[in-house]
Amino acid sequence: MAQIRLNQLSKRYENGFEAVKSSNLQIADGEFLVLVGPSGCGKSTTLRMIAGLEDVTSGDIFVGDTRVNDLEPGDRDIAMVFQNYALYPHMTVRQNMSFGLKMRKTPKDEIVRRVADAAQILSLEPMLDRYPRQLSGGQRQRVAVGRAIVRQPKAFLFDEPLSNLDAKLRVQMRTELARLHLKLKTTTVYVTHDQVEAMTLGDRIVIMKDGVIQQIGTPMEVYQQPANHFVAGFIGTPAMNFVDGSIENDHFQADAVDYPLSGDRDLAPALEATSGKVTLGFRPENLTTDPKHPRLATVKLDVVEHMGHANVVYFNLAGSSLVARLDSKSSAQPGDQIDLHLPANDWHLFAATENDQQQRPRLV
Ligand SMILES: Nc1ncnc2c1ncn2[C@@H]1O[C@H](COP(=O)(O)OP(=O)(O)OP(=O)(O)O)[C@@H](O)[C@H]1O
Ligand SMILES: [Mg+2]
Repeated sequence: MAQIRLNQLSKRYENGFEAVKSSNLQIADGEFLVLVGPSGCGKSTTLRMIAGLEDVTSGDIFVGDTRVNDLEPGDRDIAMVFQNYALYPHMTVRQNMSFGLKMRKTPKDEIVRRVADAAQILSLEPMLDRYPRQLSGGQRQRVAVGRAIVRQPKAFLFDEPLSNLDAKLRVQMRTELARLHLKLKTTTVYVTHDQVEAMTLGDRIVIMKDGVIQQIGTPMEVYQQPANHFVAGFIGTPAMNFVDGSIENDHFQADAVDYPLSGDRDLAPALEATSGKVTLGFRPENLTTDPKHPRLATVKLDVVEHMGHANVVYFNLAGSSLVARLDSKSSAQPGDQIDLHLPANDWHLFAATENDQQQRPRLV
């Protein structure tokens, strides 16, 4: 096992496209780190550079104390599991799992022992003599993970390993991977664009956009204190609501909205940074009809989804389409006018800019 360190890591492809821009990242020994971000943000490129499948344009990669930039993939002692876990179709599960070790001239009894251990950990024992075509998608994915485990590498790299599985199996495999990590404690870098996977699996999460790391933190940190507008909108489902407006006398004001920014936070930095124009952010799960909290606005419900555990309601406010997740006991119907309340402190303020491409840091 080992620490992995990325130091000013950049990748420019031959066509001039810069896919990863000066990434700095320290992954602790034994940590489960998740790289998350929208399609094309540079997740796979980062992972492939760590694995040695892609040349580094500039910067350094360390595994433990060794700079691995110039090491061949096979010499880095890192195992990678891909989305398309190509198993050898003409080999049994046992042979698939043994193959890498055989190529490395591992002693035979050692191979037998490691494959037996991995099969036990992954509940693959009854399937060792089957061929891949005789397995379900989830079982095949487990064999792919087994191939990585038997190598006993310093680190695991996963690139969207669950995205080919159906929704139910994905949740099941997610739990299995979490359990596996608790058992093996191998340093892991896991790429996904599914923020639920990121939140549930990661000790820490790295959120990327356009080749740039936006924030690094624990799931709770990135949920509760998103660094900017992008992270705030990316982490959490349904996504955070945003309304553009201004601050006047410690109230947030927009069309049909007058909300007292109460709580224990200091508004001065926001006012200084923005000349009053801001974007208010609040999560669907924080909105409530309970009048003991400050009132945000009266809204007319558009669509109502009864989810069983909650009612998800949609409405328009100050030119934005917004969402609230209300108690399932609420009797909300489309067309209803309701008062929505937002507890003190359950809001964020972001810098408002004309251009969405610009950084919009969280102010308070
Ligand atoms: N060989 C290449 N040459 C030029 N550009 C490339 C090459 N490979 C990838 N890219 C570009 O680099 C960017 C990052 O690609 P990458 O595969 O790392 O994204 P990703 O975050 O893994 O996305 P996804 O979630 O879709 O897998 C993309 O814009 C992609 O088009
Ligand atoms: Mg990718």
